[in-house]
Amino acid sequence: MPVNDNKKEIIRLLRESEGKPVSGQEIGEKLGITRAMVWKYIRTLRKEGYDIRSSPKTGYILDAAPDRIDPEELKTILSTDLIGKVISYYSILDSTNNAARDIALKSAEGTVVIAEKQSKGRGRMGKEWQSSPGGVWLSVILKPSIALENVSKITLIAGIAVTNVLRDIGVDAHIKWPNDVLVKGKKICGILTEVSAEVDKVDYVIPGIGINANVSLSDLSDEIRKDSTSISREMGKNIDRTAFVASLLYELEQQYIKFKTKQFTDIVEEWISLSDTIGKEVKITTPNRIIEGKAVGITEKGALVILDRNNKRQEIFAGNCRYSN
Ligand code: BTN
Repeated sequence: MPVNDNKKEIIRLLRESEGKPVSGQEIGEKLGITRAMVWKYIRTLRKEGYDIRSSPKTGYILDAAPDRIDPEELKTILSTDLIGKVISYYSILDSTNNAARDIALKSAEGTVVIAEKQSKGRGRMGKEWQSSPGGVWLSVILKPSIALENVSKITLIAGIAVTNVLRDIGVDAHIKWPNDVLVKGKKICGILTEVSAEVDKVDYVIPGIGINANVSLSDLSDEIRKDSTSISREMGKNIDRTAFVASLLYELEQQYIKFKTKQFTDIVEEWISLSDTIGKEVKITTPNRIIEGKAVGITEKGALVILDRNNKRQEIFAGNCRYSN
C-alpha cells in the first residue's frame, strides 16, 4: 500500500477505536506491515500534528488530529451525489468566491472551493470578511435552471442548511434575514451569494459560506468581535472541521434537492421556523430606500415581508437588516 494510504488507514483504525488503545501488532497485521514500520508511520503522523499517545503494553491512542480540513478524508466520508463531488482545496486564497467564480463556467455543478485562510475574504455590501485560521470558508458552484429573480432563494436554503447542521451538533442557531446565522444574538456565519446571469436564466450561482468554526475570537478586530461568536466558543471545544464540512455539504444538497423538487412554501415554512427575524421590529436599508416596520413573513419568491409604519405591506429581496427592539 502507498505510504499515504498506510497513514490514512492507521488514522482510520485509531479513530474507529474511539480512545481505546490499538496495538502495533494489530495495526501491522491489518496493514500487512511490521510493528517497526507501524512505529515509523506513527512518528511521521506525530510530525504532521497528530497527537498520538503510545504505551508499550497497550498500544496507540489518537488524542487529537491536527485542526485542518483534510480534503482526502472529506472525499471519503462525504455522502452526497452532487455537492462536493469535485473539491478544490487550498491552504490560502484571496477569496473562495473569487476562485469559484474564475472556474465556474468550466466546472461541474456542485464543485466546492475551500480555503483554510482567506487574505481578502469578502462580506456583503463590499465589506471585508475576516477569515482567520480555524474557520470554514467555502463556496459552492450551483447551476440551477432558474430566473434571476429566484436567486435569493438559494441564500435562504444555504442559511437553513448551516442552521440545521449547527443545531445537529448542539449549537442553538437562528437565521437573521437575509443570510446571517446567529447564536444568542451573535453572528457565527455569513453567506455571500453571487450570480452570473443572462436575461432569462442564470449561468451559475455561488453561495459563499463563512462559519466561525474553531476561530479564536481574539483573532477578530474589536469591532467585529463584539457581535461575533464561534462554534468552539459555544461548545467549549474545537470541532472536527472535516466531519463538519461533510455534514454541511450533505445538508446543503438535501435543501437544494427540496428547492428543485418541492413547493417553495415548504422551504419558507422551514426558514420561518428557524428564523430570528420574523416578528421583530426591523430597519432595512437598501441602496435606494429605508423601510422600518415589523417583519411578518417570506413570500413565494423569497422576499421578506414588512408591515411598515403605515401598516403597508412591503416586500424586500435584499438589504441590510437591523433590529429596532
Ligand atoms: C456577510 O455576512 O457579510 C457574508 C460573509 C461571507 C463570507 C464567505 S467566506 C467564504 C466566501 N468567500 C468570501 O470571500 N466570502 C464568502
